[in-house]
Amino acid sequence: MELSFAADIRPLFRDRDRNAMLGMFDLWSVDDVREHAESIHAVLARGAMPCDGAWPPERTALLRRWIDGGAQA
Ligand code: HEM
Repeated sequence: MELSFAADIRPLFRDRDRNAMLGMFDLWSVDDVREHAESIHAVLARGAMPCDGAWPPERTALLRRWIDGGAQA
């Protein structure tokens, strides 16, 4: 099944993630996450973000699948 931002990706970003990053981009905005998708994926994959604990690899892989599937809304 095709992944969508609304159903699969946006719920991965907590209120606190969004607030911490609002100065750079809005993690609850599909346009912003599309625009910064590769840098967002890169920091998650190397465990640099979120600053209070890395995502498990399956979660980062889900973001990768969404990007590679055309980053659907
Ligand atoms: C899933 C959650 C998050 C994602 C995807 C994310 C993503 C990013 C990205 C892509 C950058 C830019 C890195 C670069 O320039 O190489 C960044 C910077 C940063 N993030 Fe996050 N972030 C998340 C959560 C958080 C949280 C929870 C905090 C802290 C409470 C935080 C604090 C910061 C800080 C302090 C910077 C550096 C800003 C600067 O260089 O001026 N982030 N983040």
